[in-house]
Amino acid sequence: MSIEIRDLNYTYAEGTPFESIALKNINWKIIEGEMWLLLGKTGSGKTTLIQNINGLLIPKNGEVIVDGLKTSDKNVNIKDIRKNVGIVFQYPENQFFLPTVLEEILYAPKNFGIEISKNELLEILKIVGLTPEFLTRNPFSLSGGEMRRVAIASVLAYNPKYIVFDEPTVGLDYNGRKKIWQIIENLRKAGKTIIIVTHWIDDLISFKPKVLHIQNREISFKGEFNDFIMLGEEELKKRSISLSEKLKLYYCSLKNNITLEKLFQY
Ligand SMILES: Nc1ncnc2c1ncn2[C@@H]1O[C@H](COP(=O)(O)OP(=O)(O)OP(=O)(O)O)[C@@H](O)[C@H]1O
Ligand SMILES: [Mg+2]
Repeated sequence: MSIEIRDLNYTYAEGTPFESIALKNINWKIIEGEMWLLLGKTGSGKTTLIQNINGLLIPKNGEVIVDGLKTSDKNVNIKDIRKNVGIVFQYPENQFFLPTVLEEILYAPKNFGIEISKNELLEILKIVGLTPEFLTRNPFSLSGGEMRRVAIASVLAYNPKYIVFDEPTVGLDYNGRKKIWQIIENLRKAGKTIIIVTHWIDDLISFKPKVLHIQNREISFKGEFNDFIMLGEEELKKRSISLSEKLKLYYCSLKNNITLEKLFQY
């Protein structure tokens, strides 16, 4: 199974004076089980692209096919696509609107007509590292990191096959970020297909996701993580990516064909 994006072009407010082209000629195939890192500077079209993936936005040009269902097909119930592609949005806590964590978590599955048992709910809480006591809390009384974990739980609650994280660690401190990466690592191990939008490439070295980089609305790199880093400092700079000290070391280790562990021994 896969998500296939073919010749996707997306224009906001088409045909009006506010018309703005957000994406051009996007071709991308995400195969079940893969992990992808979606990169591009601010305003490059990342959120627009992921909203096209789950049918929140429907392309007029090109097509998006999720497990054989085309988002623009009038005969397809868009909910059948949306329940398979969960998105944890940028600042997801801005979208909380119910009085308790329990109601927040149960909202989306209910909307999709999916029943969730008590055991499943407890399992989800365990995955995101929250205790059952949180269920009766008001979402707005939680810390930033806890809110982020509730947002992830509310997506896991309908058990989507593909999960997109749009800037999952933005605004969190070191420990908060670490916890989120741990959750993502566990979801990956559990077989989920994961797409991450983030500027924290450093944190992803151990994941080695595939990389899609967008620049000037078009794909400027698609391929393996190591090949992306091996483009080198100059090429990456052209793509608005500056290598941190850690990534520079990683680049050296790749170039000299030695493992990072060995490099740190010196
Ligand atoms: N609802 C909208 N109406 C008109 N233009 C929009 C709309 N949403 C986004 N855009 C424009 O489309 C382009 C891509 O925006 P998008 O939000 O997809 O970028 P992004 O890569 O997610 O940026 P960021 O890293 O800041 O989140 C931008 O030029 C933006 O101004
Ligand atoms: Mg965005």
